[in-house]
Amino acid sequence: MNILDPHGPAASNLAALTVWVLVVFSVVAVVMWVLIVWPALRRRGTLAEHAPAGSGGGQAWILVGGLIVPFAILAAVFVASLNSIRGFPLHGDHAMGPAEIRVLGHQWWWEVRYLGEPPQQFPTANEIHLPAGRPVDVDLVSGDVIHSLWIPGLHGKVDLIPGRTNRIRLQADRPGIYQGQCAEFCGEQHAHMRLVVVADTPADYVVWKAAQRGPAITPHTPELLVGQQVFLSRPCALCHAVRGTPAQGGVAPDLTHLASRRGLAANILPNDRAALSAWVTGAQSIKPGARMPNVAQMDGAEQRALVHYLESLH
Ligand code: CUA
Repeated sequence: MNILDPHGPAASNLAALTVWVLVVFSVVAVVMWVLIVWPALRRRGTLAEHAPAGSGGGQAWILVGGLIVPFAILAAVFVASLNSIRGFPLHGDHAMGPAEIRVLGHQWWWEVRYLGEPPQQFPTANEIHLPAGRPVDVDLVSGDVIHSLWIPGLHGKVDLIPGRTNRIRLQADRPGIYQGQCAEFCGEQHAHMRLVVVADTPADYVVWKAAQRGPAITPHTPELLVGQQVFLSRPCALCHAVRGTPAQGGVAPDLTHLASRRGLAANILPNDRAALSAWVTGAQSIKPGARMPNVAQMDGAEQRALVHYLESLH
């Protein structure tokens, strides 16, 4: 998460502006310190040896150093910022087509919807896949409070605001994994609202999309069947959806292909068996205040079956 290590056009644009502003203000800081230290070190005898300084003079320093130079520097920074902004699509720009992806901020996770005609669309969560080398337009909206999407390697911060749609153009120049984070305080688990962007090769992206579109696998062992029954008969199915089953909850992450994702709980946990077990039984001890309750009414065998079922959702 380094803004000076850009991997796409939007982030490169911002990184160039950042470096330029940093250099300008470093020069200003050095000049200021020289002007402060130099008179302090320049000893020219004591007050007794000199007549009092005249009241005239010095106005040129104030006019040039206090007005003209700051105005010129701030104007230059302003123009450079305007120039950077031109590299970003503007809100409501009619030249832009429909977005390919819609990201919805929730307390405290990211809903990601791939748009298009009905067979094309599918939901996922906390992980965005992009084809490397191609721009992808993303709509940003919020389901509750203001969030801010920040993927430093690819783009600057852009707010997700209730009742309004913001648009960004994401592009990753090369395949890779880019970390993101909510950058606007949105409640007690704000710091644990992370997102991962995976830039695939174009071929991998097609394969990933085709796999994500499909329904969940059908349980093929007795234990997985038990696990699915646990999932459907406990509160899980009220909030989560697993496409291809009666679980159609729409207020929590879609779990149809949970096992294909890199992280759990908005990427604060790795997606492995230990973390999955901990999360399904003790979400409140891991993310206090999260909307997911602790699911207590399960015995050990049911919990194992549930975790195995969730692990099978590739
Ligand atoms: Cu969402 Cu901070």
